[in-house]
Amino acid sequence: MKKNIPFFSIERQYTQNKKTFLKALTNVLDSQNFIGGTFVQKFETNFSSYVKSKYAISCNSGTDALWLALKALNLQKNSIVLTTPFSFIASSSEIVAHKAHPVFIDIDETTFNIDPQKIEIWIKKEAEFINSQEKLIHKKTGFPVAGILFVDIFGQCTNYKAIKEISNKYNLWLIEDACQAVGAQTNDGKSAGTLANISCFSFYPTKNLGAFGDGGCCTTNNKYLAEQMIQLRNHGRKSHYNYIQHGINSRLDGIQAAILDKKLKLLDHFNDQRINIAQTYNQQLKGIDFIKTPKTINGKHVYHQYCIQLTNQILRDQLIQELSNHKINTNIYYPKTLDQIDFLNTHPQLKNVCPIAQNLTKTTLALPIWPELEKEEVEYICQKIKEVAQKLQISTVYFQKTNSCKGKINE
Ligand SMILES: Cc1ncc(COP(=O)(O)O)c(C=O)c1O
Repeated sequence: MKKNIPFFSIERQYTQNKKTFLKALTNVLDSQNFIGGTFVQKFETNFSSYVKSKYAISCNSGTDALWLALKALNLQKNSIVLTTPFSFIASSSEIVAHKAHPVFIDIDETTFNIDPQKIEIWIKKEAEFINSQEKLIHKKTGFPVAGILFVDIFGQCTNYKAIKEISNKYNLWLIEDACQAVGAQTNDGKSAGTLANISCFSFYPTKNLGAFGDGGCCTTNNKYLAEQMIQLRNHGRKSHYNYIQHGINSRLDGIQAAILDKKLKLLDHFNDQRINIAQTYNQQLKGIDFIKTPKTINGKHVYHQYCIQLTNQILRDQLIQELSNHKINTNIYYPKTLDQIDFLNTHPQLKNVCPIAQNLTKTTLALPIWPELEKEEVEYICQKIKEVAQKLQISTVYFQKTNSCKGKINE
């Protein structure tokens, strides 16, 4: 195969559905309904019924969705939010945007999602109740612990039941960052987008449900929170020229809504194609000594990313280089954990080191997984990985025998 295999492409999806998309665009242009209006309302209705959530409040991006959710839950300055270190920057930066403190709790090594057990260990060690079981306070700083923000990373739902138990026990709200998980389900058949007080989605073009620009959405079953977010996304406006709180301008536009509505009908098909690709990778790559394929233990995984783990960083970086020589593009999610980013560490007494997440930054590798990737392309990628694996295995044995870089290979 001579051609380049991009890490991600939306070109084929566009070509295959061009007529549908152009018709949707023409409808918006003809109606001149650019902001709010029928296309946005229709998409919100269809999206809330897809997710099986009572309310869907669309906005300008996943980042804004997180900002709106935190504001609607009344996150105050100097409050603590327990969250994952293994995510895109926005799941923590929006906590900091509210002048609150993210505290990073390490992840589960199988799912890469926040580990509920470690949340409770942190609470028991670091926090205590005041006001007869009502308010949880961080002992050293006196800051209140407000809630937990978990992320369904790479498209697999978090173990929400365990987290919900903790939130009930300690009186904490929950936000689900489902930006990578639209269409995913839990073991008991609940949809991503219904696992917390508020859930947040991104429609960035490369997401499983991607717009032709930026877009986002919050879902909730709570009427009060929905009303709050409707106000907050529109400058805190309650009614015509009646502004009652500080909000932002974060509106999904008609063009994005119309495209998203068309793509929503295709979403399960797109996700099934991702799942098929993941299954081929799983089958073909099993048995390679130093590669661990991802495990699905929490229901339906929709593979926003397919990340393998290598035994160590040297092998990971060699594999990247060798695949790139064959024009196969890969990516690292994430090269840095959020607990390693200075401005997210907002208070010295809240620093919590996350070794499992940090180790992943050195060993994980994301392979191409986009719905229109063809079977022969996936098989070609697998074949090249197997060839490279054999080559690397031989050189590993050689290095170990000659002892020339034994320490490095095994570190
Ligand atoms: C986990 C996660 N949270 C939040 C976001 C932010 O979404 P957006 O890029 O739409 O602002 C993303 C998108 O990259 C994400 O992957």
